[in-house]
Amino acid sequence: MSFPDGFLWGGATAANQLEGAYLEGGKGLSVQDIMPSGVMGPITLEPTKDNLKLIGVDYYHRYAEDIAMFAELGIKAYRMSIAWSRIFPKGDEEQPNEEGLQFYDRVFAECKKYNIEPVVTLSHYEPPLALCRKYDGWRSREMIQYFAKYAKVVLTRFKDTVKYWITFNEVNVTVISPLLGGGILTPKANLTKQDMYQAAHHQLVASGLVTKMAHEINADFQVGCMVASAPRYPRTCNPDDILKAMEDQQEVSYFVHVHCTGEYPFYAKRIFRDYNICLVITEEDKELLKNTVDFISFSYYNSKTVAQDAGQYQGAGGNLMRGLKNPYLEYSDYNYPLDPKGLRYMLNYFYEHYQKPLFVAENGLGQSDTLISDENGSFTVADDYRIKFLNNHLVQVNEAIEDGVKVIGYTMWSIMDIVSAASAELTKRYGLIYVDRLQDGTGTLKRFKKKSYHWYKKVIETNGESL
Ligand code: BG6
Repeated sequence: MSFPDGFLWGGATAANQLEGAYLEGGKGLSVQDIMPSGVMGPITLEPTKDNLKLIGVDYYHRYAEDIAMFAELGIKAYRMSIAWSRIFPKGDEEQPNEEGLQFYDRVFAECKKYNIEPVVTLSHYEPPLALCRKYDGWRSREMIQYFAKYAKVVLTRFKDTVKYWITFNEVNVTVISPLLGGGILTPKANLTKQDMYQAAHHQLVASGLVTKMAHEINADFQVGCMVASAPRYPRTCNPDDILKAMEDQQEVSYFVHVHCTGEYPFYAKRIFRDYNICLVITEEDKELLKNTVDFISFSYYNSKTVAQDAGQYQGAGGNLMRGLKNPYLEYSDYNYPLDPKGLRYMLNYFYEHYQKPLFVAENGLGQSDTLISDENGSFTVADDYRIKFLNNHLVQVNEAIEDGVKVIGYTMWSIMDIVSAASAELTKRYGLIYVDRLQDGTGTLKRFKKKSYHWYKKVIETNGESL
């Protein structure tokens, strides 16, 4: 195996999916607090009891115990996010919420105790609700200043404790699910492509601005962009399908391109023409976009097969990346294509285009798990399916490294069971650590190591040799 020394082996989470304590420590409401069904159902006026994220997996109170379990697992890096509404509860206060900052002081102190490198996402689908209500989320340019203010506070506060920063989680999702990606409360059906791409433009400008600030605050900071990736495969070798796959791929690369080169790609013209988009881009925006990132991070769950005439084929599952059934692949219980080789493809694709270090920020298998009692009478989950999934994907990361791609880290999703993003559920689990909280909200919240926990520990210990 060719994993380099210092490879950032780790796991990932997001604040809104695990912290809970949605109103404690001075936290304000985030948009997630009124999304009891994720993006699958309607938003509510106020937080409702059926929203599993309000309690999450109670990490806010158990972070020390959880990080100790991560340390025992041997991870080198922990990708997490800061809940913006813990720092600026309504988003537009003059002063940050000191109690919120102190919570992350404590979290980072635990990481430091075990030599775990935090990789911190500034915005992981959780903007303050008050801003979303006032401005319809990122549709408004006003969001840029509030995000920059929040970012400046945390970048400064944690300038000596955190080195790796990611500006927006899956920034391309704003044009797929404007509610999830952009905190936009207007239903997607009432939005034009212009609205969505303009909102995404505001995020790209904000990302440039924050990248600039970050490098001024600490020249050693490594700042990355993050996209939801899925290689696009043409369903047939019909040139129309090939072009469809190319265009679909470009709609993701568009975001990486801006982050890596400081300007929109040549094919943006076609996208704008096809979708009737005329972006408002100021001279200042153009300058801010020039602040390019140090690394590219991305999530990878599955590939997406497309065709010009999609109607004649059967559809496959996926969170947000739903394509057609690919006859060459197997499928998970949730009907997601299982495609480890697609990860090698994606790594090569990004490296070939941008030659920036790559970080696999998310990769994992969502499956329902059963807690069983093992031969010693302790509880576990025999999740061989997850081991197989992660093993096969890591083998492909190694292949990409052997191809010559510079991969600096891999944080599997999710290091422990947390509430899912797209459907806000607890039945579909990704963790190496089982959390006893069920879909109906009941459970002791106790943590149990799954079989995959022990498997991953060995992988890290051997720097990949045990794969
Ligand atoms: C990614 C998100 O899209 O997929 C995570 O960044 C999310 O927040 C993960 O949890 C898995 O998706 P889901 O909807 O199954 O939780």
